[in-house]
Amino acid sequence: MKDAVIAELVQHAADELRHAEMITSRIVQLGGVLLQDPREWFKWSSCGYEAPSDSYVRSILEQNIRGEQCAITVYNQLIQEVGFKDPVTYNLVVQILQDEVMHEEDLQALLEDLSALTRK
Ligand SMILES: [Fe+2]
Repeated sequence: MKDAVIAELVQHAADELRHAEMITSRIVQLGGVLLQDPREWFKWSSCGYEAPSDSYVRSILEQNIRGEQCAITVYNQLIQEVGFKDPVTYNLVVQILQDEVMHEEDLQALLEDLSALTRK
């Protein structure tokens, strides 16, 4: 399962970087100021960062599922907050939310496959 999980997480990392680029571009379009110091990212992060402490595949999957679920909650809140006051941002956040929901589903499927394998 390890190779399948690695492939999935590499794809998710590429998606997350794309999301960051979409969001930073929108912040600049709106005249906002980007956080230049990575230490500030942790202070302002809605979901924080949970460093991997256990390399077991099940632990990695569970940790990443929690991260995706947090992201889904945050993007849902953002959609509620933005509403139709800013359709461009609304559309951008909906696109990202769709990816996050897919990420969570993909990781849940891998976790179910792992559970099925370890039951036998
Ligand atoms: Fe994600």
